[in-house]
Amino acid sequence: MTEAKKLFVKTYGCQMNVYDSQRMQDVLAPLGYQSVDSAEGADMVILNTCHIREKAAEKVFSDLGRVRKHKEAKEASGGDKMIVAVAGCVAQAEGAELMKREPMVDMVFGPQTYHRLPEMVARANRAVGRNRIVDTDFPAEEKFDHLPEQVSKQGYSAFLAIQEGCDKFCTFCVVPYTRGAEYSRPGADVIREAKQLVAQGTRELTLLGQNVNAYHGEAPNGGEWTLGRLLRELAEIDGLDRIRYTTSHPRDVDEDLISAHRDIKKLMPFLHLPVQAGGDRVLQAMNRKHTNADYRDIAKRLKDACPDLALSSDFIVGFPGESDKDFEDTMEIVRDITFIQAFSFKYSPRPGTPASAMELQVPEKVKTERIMRLQALLAEQQLTFNQNSVGKEMDVLLERHGKYEGQLVGKSPYMQPVHVSGLPESALGQIVRLKITEALPNSLGGELVDATQSDQKSERNVA
Ligand code: SAH
Ligand code: SF4
Ligand code: F3S
Repeated sequence: MTEAKKLFVKTYGCQMNVYDSQRMQDVLAPLGYQSVDSAEGADMVILNTCHIREKAAEKVFSDLGRVRKHKEAKEASGGDKMIVAVAGCVAQAEGAELMKREPMVDMVFGPQTYHRLPEMVARANRAVGRNRIVDTDFPAEEKFDHLPEQVSKQGYSAFLAIQEGCDKFCTFCVVPYTRGAEYSRPGADVIREAKQLVAQGTRELTLLGQNVNAYHGEAPNGGEWTLGRLLRELAEIDGLDRIRYTTSHPRDVDEDLISAHRDIKKLMPFLHLPVQAGGDRVLQAMNRKHTNADYRDIAKRLKDACPDLALSSDFIVGFPGESDKDFEDTMEIVRDITFIQAFSFKYSPRPGTPASAMELQVPEKVKTERIMRLQALLAEQQLTFNQNSVGKEMDVLLERHGKYEGQLVGKSPYMQPVHVSGLPESALGQIVRLKITEALPNSLGGELVDATQSDQKSERNVA
C-alpha cells in the first residue's frame, strides 16, 4: 500500500478547470494522494488557475501568500515538504515569471500536461536537492488519451469535457493562447465516460468545451460527429436524464444543433450563448465573426425549434472604442431577447491580446457606469423570470442538503436552485415534480406536486 498523502486542489475560473481538477485528482490517486479541503498540513497543493481577467490572475498571487505560510509552518514543525504547484491558465501564460516571482513554487504546468503529473511529482519529490519544474508545452500526444480511462464518481450532476481549446481568437481573450488549438475527443471516448458516470449515479451531464459546439469528434465507424449528433447518441443512455452543454459560440450553432433542441427531450431548454456586445462595430473589433442581427436570428431559430428555451449570456462592457451608441445597442439586444441569467464584465486588457494594444481604451468610470446599468437590467430580467415561475410545475433534480433542517436543494431545467422541505433523505438524486411557490433573485422555493408523479424523466413543463 502506498502511504496516504494529502492533496489540496483549489480551482479558479471556468467549469473546464473544475473538470480538470477532478482529473488531476484521478491521476494522483494511484500515487496515494487523497483530497483534503485545506492547504494546512497538505503534502501537495495545486492551484488550478484562471487568466481570463486581471482580477482572476491577481487572486492567485494573493492565495500563494497564504499557501506559503502553511508550507513554512509544516516544514518548521518537522513535517515532510509540501509541494506547491500552479496549474491552469495562469501557469500556461506566465509560467516562467511565476517561478521567478514565487521562489517557493515547486511546479508550474499548463492545461495540456496533466497526464504527465505522476512523472513531475516524482521529479519534485526526489530526495536530493530541489527540483523546480516548468511544463507549459502543448505536447504532441493528446492528454485525454493519457488520462486514466476510469473517471471517479461524481455527483448527480457531472461535467464531461468533450472539446478543448479555441481557434476563434476573439481579440480580448487569452483562451486560444492558454488552452491551445481546438481539439475534439472521439465520440466513443465521450460515450464511454458518460456511461461510467451514469453507472456511478450521475443523472445530469454537462458537456464542456471552450467552444463546445465546434465539436467534431471522430465517429466510431469513421467520419465525424457534430455536437448535435453526439447529443442524440448520449440521449440513448438509460439512466441519463438531463443533458446540457457549455460554452457555445453563436457562429457554430448549426441546423443540426437547433433540431437537437427540438427533438431531444433530455436536452434541457436552457442555453448559455455569449453575445458579448450589441454594437456591430464592437462585435467586429472583437472578432466575434457575427453581427447583432445574426445573433438575433440564431436566438429566434432556437426558440422556434424549442419554444420553452431560455438563454443566458456573457457580456463585456467598455471594449476599446465602445461608444455610447454601441453600448445602447447592447442594452437594446438584452431588452429584445431577454436573458434569464448572465455574466457581465468590464473589459480587462490582457497581455498579448490584440485588444490590449488598441487605441481608445474606455475610461474606468465609463465602464463602471455602463456595467451598473447593464447589470440592473439583467438582474431585473432574471428576477422576472423567477417570479414568472411561481405557480408553475417543474422537474427538479435534488442534489444536496439545504441550509435548514429537512431542506433539500435541487436544480430546475433552467439551472435555478430550488429549495424544498419535508422530503426524505432518499429523495436526493431523484427528479421530483415541484410546484414553485416562491421566487427570490437567485433561487426558487417549491413543494411536491404529487408523490405518485415523482421521479419522472425530465420533461418540458415551463411555458
Ligand atoms: N468560450 C467562451 C468564453 C470563455 S471566457 C465564449 O466564447 O463565449 C468567459 C467570458 O469571460 C467571456 O464570454 C467574456 O465575456 C469574458 N471575458 C473574456 N476575456 C475577457 C476580458 N479580457 N475582459 C473582460 N471579460 C472577458
Ligand atoms: Fe475566447 Fe472567443 Fe475563444 Fe470564447 S470564442 S474562448 S471568447 S477566443
Ligand atoms: Fe479561465 Fe482558462 Fe477557463 S483563462 S475561464 S480557466 S479556460
